[in-house]
Amino acid sequence: MDGSATSLGNAGTGTLVSLPATLIRGDGIGPEVTEATLRVLDAVGASFDWDEQVGGVTALESEGNPLPDGTVESIRRTRLALKGPLTTPVGTGFRSVNVALRREFALFANVRPVKSMVPGLRYDDVDIVLVRENTEGLYVGFEITIPVGDDRKAVAQSTAIVTRLGCERAVRFAFEYAIAHGRQRVTICHKANILKAVSGLFLDVGREVAEEYKGRIDVDDVIVDACAMKLVLDPSQFDVIVTTNMFGDILSDLMAGLIGGLGMAPGANIGEDVALFEAVHGSAPDIAGQGIANPTALILAACMMLDHVDEQGKATRIRTALEETIREGAQTTRDLGGNASTFEFADAVSRRLS
Ligand code: NAI
Ligand code: MG
Repeated sequence: MDGSATSLGNAGTGTLVSLPATLIRGDGIGPEVTEATLRVLDAVGASFDWDEQVGGVTALESEGNPLPDGTVESIRRTRLALKGPLTTPVGTGFRSVNVALRREFALFANVRPVKSMVPGLRYDDVDIVLVRENTEGLYVGFEITIPVGDDRKAVAQSTAIVTRLGCERAVRFAFEYAIAHGRQRVTICHKANILKAVSGLFLDVGREVAEEYKGRIDVDDVIVDACAMKLVLDPSQFDVIVTTNMFGDILSDLMAGLIGGLGMAPGANIGEDVALFEAVHGSAPDIAGQGIANPTALILAACMMLDHVDEQGKATRIRTALEETIREGAQTTRDLGGNASTFEFADAVSRRLS
């Protein structure tokens, strides 16, 4: 993102004078991993001027609305946000606030990098960036249930919407990202053999855009099910992957599994005007409130946010401290085989920064 047209940076001055940014602590483990992240940001001297807002179930309880106007207005003003996970009820209930935010601010590219940091796993050389189209496909939520006889939910229908514009801006972002970050190859991941219209359009547009980068960035393509198998078998064969919304959602969780789990995987939602940083994981209700969640994913998301505002130096220092703490292994959280709490881990990282 650094150096890209969407960067909100301060012209590389290297000084961050309390840049305004929106903070949403989120639901479930959100408040715990957010507090841990703020401690680490504090330790590195990254001074965002936080405008704290609410969202999700927390906001529904306090303000009667899972996405209050004040939250949307804050992000519109600051154009920069760090967000904890927000719970979305399964089946019935309100629609996803995460999806609503991505659509509201046209956050068309979701950048999800995975890089090996945890020792002793099956792979130690994973270094992949997945770029997910973030506003279209089946996730537009054009769904109906059709009653038959007494059965009110006899048939369900969902419509995927894919546009040339949506495909083009996501794929172009992936190629620009590849150039800006010294990557060699972009893999277009699709299901055009079956979904000939929606996925066919993504593949066609992807190949057209790739032509413009010929000689600079290599391109290939892969069908999504084979992609899942290849990722598990040998992740080192991938560099940058670009794909549509739902495939990206699923594959990015798979990729998190390659580097130690969801506690390790950050994401950036990028639009023309706004950038919103979060973990790939959700609110983890199974471990919420216990103080055992791994804050690495959100801390790494904060690093992506620092990169975005041209504070790469601070981002690199945090990543190094994280990696050292995890590789040393004395203060890691339970998901990584340790028994440190969320804050004990964050404090161990912070000590390496001071
Ligand atoms: P989840 O990502 O919250 O949890 C899946 C599994 O990973 C759980 O076993 C959990 O304990 C573990 N896990 C997740 N983050 C962890 C961490 N930081 N440290 C240690 N373990 C961690 O997925 P789930 O349970 O499917 O979703 C829960 C809620 O979160 C749902 O309401 C869902 O809609 C929402 N969600 C929100 C997202 C967002 O805000 N961007 C993204 C994904 C899900
Ligand atoms: Mg997901």
